[in-house]
Parts: sequence; C-alpha cells; structure tokens
Amino acid sequence: MKYRAFPALVIALLASLSTTAAPVSQQRLLSADSDTDNWLSYGRSYKEQRFSPLSEVNTDNVGELGLAWYFETDTHLGLETTPLVIDGVMYFTGAWSTAYAVNAATGELIWSFDPKVPREKSVTACCGVVNRGLAAWENKLFLGTVDGRLIAIDQTSGKQIWSSQTTDPDQAYSITGAPRVAKGKVFIGNGGSEFGTRGYVSAYDADNGEMVWRFYTIPGNPADGFENDAMERAAKTWNGEWWQYGGGGTAWDAIVYDPELDQLYIGVGNGAPHNRRIRSPGGGDNLYLSSVLALNPDTGEYLWHYQEVPADNWDYTASQQITLADIPWQGEQRKVILHAPKAGFVYIIDRANGELLSAEPFTTVTWASHYDMDTGRPVENEGQDYDGKPAVVYPSAIGGHNWQPMAYSPQTGLLYIPELDMGMPFDEIKGPDYKHLKRHFNTGYKLTQADASQRFTQALLKHLPKSHLLAWDPAKQEVAWKMPHPYIHNGGVLATAGGLVFQGTSDGRFLGVRADNGELLWTFNTQNSVLPGPVSYRANGEQYIAVAVGRGGALTMNTGKSFPTENPNNRIMAFKVGGSAVLPPVTVPDRPIPPPSLAMSDADVEEGRQLFQRFCSRCHGAYAVGDGSIPDLRYLEPIWHENFEAVVLQGLMEKAGMPRFDEALDREQVEKIHAYVIERAHEDHALRQESGWFADAKNAVIDVFARFMAWVIRTTTS
Ligand code: HEC
Repeated sequence: MKYRAFPALVIALLASLSTTAAPVSQQRLLSADSDTDNWLSYGRSYKEQRFSPLSEVNTDNVGELGLAWYFETDTHLGLETTPLVIDGVMYFTGAWSTAYAVNAATGELIWSFDPKVPREKSVTACCGVVNRGLAAWENKLFLGTVDGRLIAIDQTSGKQIWSSQTTDPDQAYSITGAPRVAKGKVFIGNGGSEFGTRGYVSAYDADNGEMVWRFYTIPGNPADGFENDAMERAAKTWNGEWWQYGGGGTAWDAIVYDPELDQLYIGVGNGAPHNRRIRSPGGGDNLYLSSVLALNPDTGEYLWHYQEVPADNWDYTASQQITLADIPWQGEQRKVILHAPKAGFVYIIDRANGELLSAEPFTTVTWASHYDMDTGRPVENEGQDYDGKPAVVYPSAIGGHNWQPMAYSPQTGLLYIPELDMGMPFDEIKGPDYKHLKRHFNTGYKLTQADASQRFTQALLKHLPKSHLLAWDPAKQEVAWKMPHPYIHNGGVLATAGGLVFQGTSDGRFLGVRADNGELLWTFNTQNSVLPGPVSYRANGEQYIAVAVGRGGALTMNTGKSFPTENPNNRIMAFKVGGSAVLPPVTVPDRPIPPPSLAMSDADVEEGRQLFQRFCSRCHGAYAVGDGSIPDLRYLEPIWHENFEAVVLQGLMEKAGMPRFDEALDREQVEKIHAYVIERAHEDHALRQESGWFADAKNAVIDVFARFMAWVIRTTTS
C-alpha cells in the first residue's frame, strides 16, 4: 500500500512545483494577512501593518539567525526599497528607479529592469534618486520613476508592458514612492514640493496605463477655475499668490486602500515654501496640506479629511506611513488609522469619518503644546513660528518619524516607530528678501546663520539629537518601551508573530528585538547602514528575514556616516536560522591630504559656506560631511579640485547624477564654495591627526551641528 502511494505522492509534488502560482488578484490581496509565505504589497497587506504571521523564527531561536544570501547591486546611491516576495521570487527596486527579481531562497538574479532615467533629473529629487518599492497585480509589477513615469513590468520576463508619463516633465516632479493597486487601478503620487510643484494623486488602469482620475491636494490659481468643490473650499483657506510657488502638498509616500470601507487614504505633504508667511501671506489653514485625505478609489472624489498641522510652517508632511488597525478604544472596537508623521504626534483617527480620537506626542515636540480635542486642532506654542525671531523647533524639518516604515503587531497591540528626537533652528527669510528658485530647494528660512547658530549652540548641545526604536501603546496612548540607538536616522521596522521586531541602524547593525519589552536578542553587522523596511517570507519551507542594506534619504545624505569603511554597493541581505554566508571584507580608505587653502577672505569663505548649505549640502552633507553614498567633497582627489568649476557649472559629471548649477550660481560663487570645501578638508585633516579613524564616528555624530560638535570634541579632549 505504502509502495503504491509513493508514485502518486511524487506526481502530486511535481504537479505542485510545475503549476505556476495564481497571479496576484484582488482576492489574493484581500487575504494577504493570512498568506503566510508571501509579502504581496509594500506594507504586506492593505492594512500596511508590516506584521508577518510567520513564527518559525522566534524569541527562542532568533540568536541562531545567520546570513543565508546577499545580492549586490552596482551602486551605492540611495536605497529605500521594501522588497515584495511572491511565490518564491523577490522583487525590489534600487537607485535610479531600477527593478530586480531574484530567487528568494538563493538571491540568484532572474531579471533586472532599468528605465534609463535621464541623470539630470537628480537635481529635483530632493532626497536622492531613491525608490521605495513596487506593486503587483495579475502578473504585472508597477514601478514609479524619478522622472515621473509609471511603468508596468511583466513579472515573469522583466520586460516593459506599458509606460505612462504621470507628470509634466518640464516641472520639478519626481516619484520615489511605491505605487499601490486595488480593483484594477494603480494609484501613484509624486514629490517635489520645495522645487515648486502642486501635489496630486492619480489612478491608472492596470491593464493599459490609461489615467482614470486625478485629484489635486491643494488648489491652483483660482483664475483658472477649480477642478472640483473640494478645491473651491480649500482655496478659501489660502492667501496671496501661492500657486506661483507651487504650494506643495505632494503625496510622495502613504497611499492606502481600505477594502472594509472602500476608501483610499492619502498622506498629504508639507507646504512649499515651508515658511507660511511667504506661501500664504495673511494666514489660512492651507487645506489640504499636512492632512490625511480620504477619496473614493473608483472616482477620486473627496470623502473627508483631517488636517494634522493647519498652516504648516516647518515641513511637517503627513505623507508618512498610514496603518489601518482595529483597536480596542474606550470599551469598543474601532476601525482606525494609526499615524506617526513628522509633526511628532501619534494620531489615532476614526477611518469611517476622519474624527480625531487621540493626538499624543511620541517624541520631543515644541511647536504645539497639545491638541484641543473639541476642535481637533493643535495649540501652537508661542515663538515657535519663527516670525521675525529665530527659534529652535522640535521636531526638525526631517520630522519625529520620516519615510522609514513603522510596524504594528496585532499580537502585542503595539505600534513600533523608528523615532528621531531632534530639533532645528529656523531663521526666517523675510518676504522681500526671498528669492524663489525653480528647480532648486526653497524653504523660506536659513538653515543656519552664523551669529544665530552661536546663540543656539547651547540649546542644541543640551538636547543632542537622539533616536529610538519606540513601542507605542495606542490603547493607553503612551510609550510602552523604547530602545535608544547611538546614532540618528535608523531604519524601518518589521514585526513578526515570532514575538519579534526587526530594525536596522545607521551604524550598520541589523537587530532582532523582543516585541513585548524591547530586549535586544540578536545583532548582525551588515557593513553599511540599514534603513529600509525589512520583510519576512517563506521559501522552500524555511522562514527568511530580508532587508535592503545601503544609505538613503535626506537625513543620511545630510549627516555623514558613523563607520570608517568604504560604503559597499547596495545589497539585499536574507537571513535564516543556521544561515552561514559570509560578507567580503571592507576596506578603510586613505584620505588624501587636502590642497592648500585658496587665497580668500573669511567673509568670502563664509559666503561659500552659506552657498554650500543651500545648494550642495542636501547631497554632499551638511558642513560637507558626506555620507559615503555621494562623494565626500573633503576627500576630493586633485583631479576634481582642478575641474571643480567644470563639474559644478558645465555638467562634467551630470551622467553620474551631479546636477549643473549654471542657472543658479556664477564662477565667483563656485570659487567661494570651493574655498569653503577646502577649509572643511583641513579641519577634518586636523581631527584625523587627533582621533585616527575614529574621526569618522565623530564627524557623523556631528551631523547637522558638525562644527559645534567638533568644537566640543576639541575642547573636551584637549
Ligand atoms: C542632487 C544631488 C547633488 C547635489 C545637489 C550636488 N551634487 Fe555634487 N555630486 C553628486 C553626485 C551623484 C556626484 C557624482 C558621484 C559619482 O562620482 O559617481 C557628484 C559629484 C561632485 C563632484 C565631483 C567629485 C566626484 O568624486 O565625483 C564635485 C566637485 C561636486 N559634486 C560638487 C558639488 C557642489 C559644489 C555642489 C553644490 C553647488 C554639488 N556638488 C551639489 C550629487 C549632487
């Protein structure tokens, strides 16, 4: 009997191997929560909880996790991707909107796709040529590109099926976010507020790429008429000629479909320029900036909104991850949105109607004291609007939590937030002095000003930037536990049914932590920062935890790195119990001796510093402390010093993603920037003589306050 059953078993097994798995249908997406082996969409299921129901890796054996495989891309430019895993194949994106498919059990490449984004587009990608991920539907994958295309790729062959230009290529839009898909429609937003754009979300037909609807998040010039009633109502909350600046409100990250209520939620971005007195002189709430907006997914019609930060003044986007959950709330179960955006509060919003249930700070917050629960509005603290008087404001423009994904565990009932506790000085540029430069970064304040920054040094040193993995209890509206990290800008979070939470850190560690109390159980040294959201899946019957390893995003590019070794190229790393793969060794580069200072007055070098901060720091780092993904200008080889002007003004390195600045800068200004860079190289060289390779760690702690910290180190070590 046994003998005769054997061939039948083999046949059944072979059949199960040869049948191609069902394509990702609406049905599959609806039951994604219980589809243990896969990771079918950006946030794992429509709820975007990033909770894996797998528990073979758990609190007992997490210590035995080892590297199973890694896949290396060909660049160390920005990385933010969350991989999808569908029936044994992993799909993910890389710098310049590239996409890859690899075997999820071995990391072997199956195909790669390069949409060939024109490199000059890097200038209007605020925070790197990053991409956060793909959406899957019926054997297609959808990809947004830095130059504003939405592309459908054949999931099996990696070939393009259709491509739609979702933006006006002459405007400064970019796409870095993952598309979302529901009921045969692909939803996509864009970024570019500071460069002069007006935000919107569009829906495309998944079959052929035709646009079905578009919803603008803020009004345009009233003289051109309004697209809908929602825009007409919104226009009453704006003043001046905001449309000249674009106005902002880009939806560059959270777009979430709620199958239970058949609504689409959009996290709307900040106002642009950030300074509201320039953007909308005379005041007004500036709807729908910094709001959660609910739309009809079929038609794009407005349903409701909740504005978290009326009249945003600090770059407080509400674009961050929107997570859907059913939670116990004052004796009943409520369907809510859990939201922990830049403004530093955890908002709990009834998702049926947009009613605010709770708004409590999860990090240091000074811009508002609390929310008035009768009106649902924040109560702003005096002096924090920097109206004619500079102010240190918490959170900074980077936010108390940014793009790094958070996770919610229905097992513990806790929300795990990659928190950033950091403030920033805002020093207003008055209206008449404000010069709006299209295609460059516009804020309406100076990031630092020599005399003001001296005044702020003490305040900032008393409260140095910190970062935690923070577990928030939504029912109690308070922190359950928090785990401090040595450096800021840490990674996204994954929660699993194994009672675990995984998070990467900027200093290159990948951590496994107990979900109930934050106890650290496992650490792996990845050789590079680990910032994107990890995923978990099963392949060949084994559970894997995987994460993209590399640098990405505004804060990392601005704040230098905390390890002395050369940045390896971006990698995906997959871990399993008993994994034994080994990474190749990394090297510590020699730093060139800087050339002699340029003959220039202190005032000219200071002007160079200010120009650098405005035009260069967002890629090459504040105070020229680079993050290793883009060259650190303090370590330029002689050839680059010789060609400095040709690189900056004539586009010598445009093909590598270095924008040309001939519209914004003249030769004299470039010379001043060069002089400043050389001064910074000398300062670093001196620090290196004192501290050896440890100078890198010190430089990184320095982040935004590089010089102040260098001063602290010097005065405390001498
Ligand atoms: C949008 C991001 C971005 C901005 C803004 C930017 N750069 Fe670059 N820069 C790059 C990239 C990317 C490279 C080339 C990377 C490579 O070598 O592959 C580069 C290269 C360079 C180089 C050549 C060094 C080398 O090793 O390639 C110089 C010099 C330079 N930049 C100066 C500047 C200056 C000065 C500014 C401000 C006026 C500036 N950059 C602004 C992204 C940027």
